[in-house]
Amino acid sequence: MGPQHYVIGNWKMNGLVAGACALARAVLAGAPGCATQLALCPPATSLGAVAAVLGRGPVMLGGQDCHPKATGAHTGDVSAEMLADVGCGLVVVGHSERRTNHGERDDLVRAKAEAAHRAGLVAVICVGETLAEREAGRTREILATQLRGSVPAGATATRTIIAYEPVWAIGTGKVATPAQAAEAHGWIRSELDGMTGAGGAFSILYGGSVKPENATDLFALPGVDGALVGGASLDATQFLGIAAAAPRRRA
Ligand code: 13P
Repeated sequence: MGPQHYVIGNWKMNGLVAGACALARAVLAGAPGCATQLALCPPATSLGAVAAVLGRGPVMLGGQDCHPKATGAHTGDVSAEMLADVGCGLVVVGHSERRTNHGERDDLVRAKAEAAHRAGLVAVICVGETLAEREAGRTREILATQLRGSVPAGATATRTIIAYEPVWAIGTGKVATPAQAAEAHGWIRSELDGMTGAGGAFSILYGGSVKPENATDLFALPGVDGALVGGASLDATQFLGIAAAAPRRRA
């Protein structure tokens, strides 16, 4: 029995309500055949409608971001409590697009992960190096710094998932080689082990141009417990194709 296996779709800023519901319906229809835990993270505007489609079925609902505070004067933000209220079971925090486009640093990402835990959500904490950092031989150091800064003290594997998303592989069609992915996942697990004493229990997902064509090879790697999928999650056939590559659920 190892970590839970997940395939999570991050729809990013794509889709209107009708399309989101149709996509969620198609994924839900294919879910019973899947050996992995599926989750969908629509844009905030579609969360309520997609929650109604997913109901109490096997596909989890997730947010793409949350504010550290539960309530208050934070125009445009959504709290973890609000996500839980609408039916979310998880929330992605620290995605590289948030880190880059909104200047989010590790301490803010940690506060968001703490907010997720406070609200009873699983926090999917994203880490990953840029191409320049990789080429400078700094990947391990960057991952360690992000993990130490972003993962809350006392985080447990039941409430925390790590997503390794090399920034240079996101939306580029470039995928980490099996050796690169396995090495990075090993580094992350050993860092988590140092931090929590239970690194082996954490689900560590790979993200970055995951497609049905490369999912089997990625999922076969030691230490890869699923995928955080961007572009391919916008197509139910592709998303379910990735899910079909998952080994049997290991919960
Ligand atoms: P792509 O699958 O489009 O490369 O996006 C990955 C990602 O950022 C998932 O969060």
